[in-house]
Amino acid sequence: SDAALLSGKRVVITAGPTREAIDPVRYLTNHSSGKMGYALADQAARMGADVTLISGPVTLPTPTNVTRINVTSAREMAQAAEKSALRADLFIGAAAVADYHVANAETQKHKKQSGQTGWTLQLAENPDIIARIARHEQRPGIVVGFAAETADVVHYAQDKLQRKNLDWIVANDVSRSDIGFNSDDNQVVVFGRDGQQFDLPQQSKSQLAGALLALFMKD
Ligand code: C5P
Repeated sequence: SDAALLSGKRVVITAGPTREAIDPVRYLTNHSSGKMGYALADQAARMGADVTLISGPVTLPTPTNVTRINVTSAREMAQAAEKSALRADLFIGAAAVADYHVANAETQKHKKQSGQTGWTLQLAENPDIIARIARHEQRPGIVVGFAAETADVVHYAQDKLQRKNLDWIVANDVSRSDIGFNSDDNQVVVFGRDGQQFDLPQQSKSQLAGALLALFMKD
C-alpha cells in the first residue's frame, strides 16, 4: 500500500491562481481552481507527509493535516515558497502563477477621466518561482512542475522541464473543457528528466494525485 510512502517526508505545494492588483478594487488573474494542487496536498498528507500548501485565492477547504499559507500575488507566493520549500523532499508547483504584474498599479481606485477613451496597463515580469527553487543551492530533492497548454503540449512541456531544471513535468491540455481548469477530472502526460514518459488515463484529480505522488517518490 502507499499509505506510508511519504512518512517523514516534507512536501511543499503551490496551488491556485495568483491575483495581480491593478488598483485597490481591480486585479488580473486566470481560471485556475486550485483543485489539482489541493488534491495533491490532501493525498500527500494521507500518505504520511508533512505538507505545506502555499495557496493563491481559491474557494476550496484546507485538506486535513495540511499547513496552508495564503498568498495573493506571485511575488508573495515566491517569498512564501522560498521560506518553506528549500531543502524539502518534494516541491510541486501546481499554481497557475501570473507571468506578469501591473507595474503601474495605482494606490487609489482609478477614476475614469472625461475625454480619455483608454487606460494603458504596463506589465512587468514576475519571478519564475519554480525555476528559482530548482536552481537554488538548497534545492528540494525532487521538483515537479505543471504545464497547462492549449497546443503543442509535448513540445512546450519538454522545453519547460529543461529550462526550469525540473525532475518531472505534468502536462495537460487546457483547451479541453472536460479536463484541466476547474474540472474534477484530469488526464495528463508526465515527462521525466531522463526521458521517461507516462500517459495517465483520465481520472478524478484525487486518484490522479495518488498516482502522481507514487510515481515521483518511486526510488
Ligand atoms: O511557464 P509556465 O507558467 O507555463 O510554467 C508552468 C510551471 O511553472 C508550473 O509548475 C507553475 O507553477 C510554475 N511557475 C512558477 N512561477 C511562475 C510561472 C510558472 O512557479 N512565475
